[in-house]
Amino acid sequence: MDKLVIKGGRQLSGTVAVSGSKNTALALMAASLLPASGKTVISRVPDLRDVHTLSNLLRIIGARVEFEKNTLTISASNISHTEAPYELVKQMRASIYVLGPLLGRFGKARVSLPGGCAWGPRPVDLHLKAMQALGASIDIEDGYVVAKAKRKRLTGAKIDFPISSVGATGNALMAAVLAKGTTKIKNAALEPEITALADMLMKMGAKISGIGTTELEIEGVEELYAVRETNICDRIEAGTLLCAAAITKGDITLVDVNPNDFKAVLKKFQQAGCEIKYTETAVSLKSPKALRPTNVEAKPFPKFPTDMQAQWTALMTQANGTSKITDHIYADRFKHVPELNRLGANIEVKGNSAIVKGVQKLSGTKVMSTDLRASASLILGGLVASGTTEVLRIYHLDRGYEKIEQKLRALGANIKREQYDEFAQPKLEKEEA
Ligand code: UD1
Repeated sequence: MDKLVIKGGRQLSGTVAVSGSKNTALALMAASLLPASGKTVISRVPDLRDVHTLSNLLRIIGARVEFEKNTLTISASNISHTEAPYELVKQMRASIYVLGPLLGRFGKARVSLPGGCAWGPRPVDLHLKAMQALGASIDIEDGYVVAKAKRKRLTGAKIDFPISSVGATGNALMAAVLAKGTTKIKNAALEPEITALADMLMKMGAKISGIGTTELEIEGVEELYAVRETNICDRIEAGTLLCAAAITKGDITLVDVNPNDFKAVLKKFQQAGCEIKYTETAVSLKSPKALRPTNVEAKPFPKFPTDMQAQWTALMTQANGTSKITDHIYADRFKHVPELNRLGANIEVKGNSAIVKGVQKLSGTKVMSTDLRASASLILGGLVASGTTEVLRIYHLDRGYEKIEQKLRALGANIKREQYDEFAQPKLEKEEA
């Protein structure tokens, strides 16, 4: 297994390019199942485990998928199965994204239920209700969702989401673009991933109005066409790199980014005392002498993202006072807290909030990643901790951060990847005579 070994205490400085968005790439890949002929070409796709998992799923379904130099070429003209097996879905919940396009194009799909995740249950009821609204029958058989459209084609409908869901909005959109008639989606998610997906679907020939608002109207079409698309920036990677700069009292510039995709995060850095400057494609951050404690509340876009909550918690361990970090999307997403506390942080979880008492001197030790963003928060802790921090089980990290250690090293961090044996017997330190 791989671990990251970090010697903390170095200030980060310099310029770094942000990769393409993982979550958007997954949605665009699922949409590439919709055209019956041609090749969909998606550039700026990050080279990440989740992208490879979905590529494998598309191959199993019968698509031809090539990945070279961050560009994916997908041909979905010969789809032979409409089934997403458990073995792949369990590796990545976003596999549920194939439900909408398969049902929309073929009128049927069999997709394994994803189950829970490290920080609790993550239901897919809204995805299923949206498919039912569009006229599909849904049965759960042997842990699989078996969906069938009446007369092989979905029909336009009104879908009113009780809560904002990125995945369910994306799935509903991909199902509705080939449905017969008009679909109206109320309370659609506003995340940049959804706007990017809707933009690509429009290029493919879909008819969607209201993009960028919570009310989408889709006029179903008979056919969609393969297109070339460029993925958007990874706003979560961008925010994480800014946290790395701020936690080390550094000064960095991000390029290839769209600051509009993470304005709420930039605002929080300003409140914390960081100097933020941005253009259309770059953001720079200059650290203050001391960070101010800054509360955040993770909510759907355009508010502060839940995927930045763990990193912000790590950052606030270095603030001059107490901060409250509340997650309104995933109430239990605090698995990083006990590990940050092992580094010497003083964080208490109360309900869906983490109370962080700042200005801690963190000191390096071994810590364990439990999920993707928790891993990022532990790296941040390691960057500022004295001595050596080892972040174990970083396979979680490899799901979502492209070349993170190379990027941090280029900014001046002392961080390297090493292999280790998870089950090796520990060596006890010698007692003094
Ligand atoms: C996406 C992101 C994930 C991010 C999350 C919230 C991808 C691949 N993943 O996940 O990184 O943390 O958005 O921004 O893009 N919910 C239900 N029923 C459903 C679906 C969702 O109750 O059928 C709830 C969830 O438990 C959660 C809330 O809705 O409380 C929002 O989740 P959602 O936006 O759907 O998250 P994902 O699309 O799974």
